[in-house]
Amino acid sequence: MGRFGKRNDLLVHGEEPFNAETGLGSLTDPVTDADAFYVRNHGAVPEIDPSAWRLRVSGMVERELSLSLQTLREAFGERTVTATLQCAGNRRAGLIAVRDIPGEAPWGPGATGTATWTGVGLADVLALAGPLSDASDVGFEGSDLSLEAEPVQQFGGSIPLDKASRPEVLLAWAMNGEPLPAVHGAPLRLVVPGYIGARSVKWLERIELRSQPWRGYFQHVVYRLLPADGTVGPGLGMPLGLVALNSDVLYPREGDTVIAGPVEARGYAFAGGDRYVTRVDVSIDGGASWSQAELLEDLGRWAWRHWRITLDLAPGEHELLVRAWDSSAATQPDTEAALWNPKGYANNARPRVHIRAIARRGKSMRIASTESARWNK
Ligand code: MTE
Repeated sequence: MGRFGKRNDLLVHGEEPFNAETGLGSLTDPVTDADAFYVRNHGAVPEIDPSAWRLRVSGMVERELSLSLQTLREAFGERTVTATLQCAGNRRAGLIAVRDIPGEAPWGPGATGTATWTGVGLADVLALAGPLSDASDVGFEGSDLSLEAEPVQQFGGSIPLDKASRPEVLLAWAMNGEPLPAVHGAPLRLVVPGYIGARSVKWLERIELRSQPWRGYFQHVVYRLLPADGTVGPGLGMPLGLVALNSDVLYPREGDTVIAGPVEARGYAFAGGDRYVTRVDVSIDGGASWSQAELLEDLGRWAWRHWRITLDLAPGEHELLVRAWDSSAATQPDTEAALWNPKGYANNARPRVHIRAIARRGKSMRIASTESARWNK
């Protein structure tokens, strides 16, 4: 077992702060086990005494609140939502392959995962506080201190009050039916389905009703999309919020050698926002023709959709090209080259996987090779 009770197959991008992506084997599960779920931290995991912990609600409200865990559990109805979290840096490795992005981790397809989150509706807590009519945004602050931020500060972010008032946005204390693990934000985290993972603030301790978006580092400076020749700075570029339609191939992987004939390909697709995945197409002739993949378990509006297709591959080199479609009839952009940006966010280019198919050897040949392997020992 790895740090924070994680499985050993996570790909660790950094120890301090701890950052690790889900292994490929676990990404094919419809719901990601907590011990396989990716971790994205900007500071050390804080130590919090749950009995002393309080959630404060302040700012543009009629009534300020200070709520214990017990009050949260007893005063509001419990809600459960199955939702995918996806980091804005998911699939950054594909952008780095176009041009290096110094200082940013080369996340592959595993900075995403789906869990069943349980807690109370943020909307119910906000209704008790009573947002004033000028309030337009809801800010959230965690108790972790980020030394990466300039100036050093606690992690935070905001979402529009409209989104915060929707029933899918949770203040969660449980993940997949178990108490929320410390590394995922215990005792309480925000879960904002459809938004970049950065808005799902962990170790939540303060909610602030505001008349403008969060001015802290993690929303006003980073997690913003810059043009390719842009530089990072306060208020520069566009703030990221809704996740863009995305997909990736989980099997086969780049460079794999497979047996020619029927080959099963698998992957995930995630629509983001409040859109849903409507179709996934796969091409093995560079996009000249497409076959539709089968969409697997439907976990609801807020979750990814796994897909599967059986391809008939002749011996030789192949490129698998995938494009997902969503309920707004959008599909994924063609290449990473057009998407490169200085922080490496929001890579949703069509995934391409290069594999080699080799002819199946006859039975007698296989026996022969086993024999020779034995003799060669
Ligand atoms: N919340 C706090 N307090 N501190 C953080 O560093 N990272 C954010 C978000 N919430 C972060 C946070 C980012 S960038 C992502 S992608 C998600 O948490 C990741 O959630 P996970 O680590 O539970 O997978």
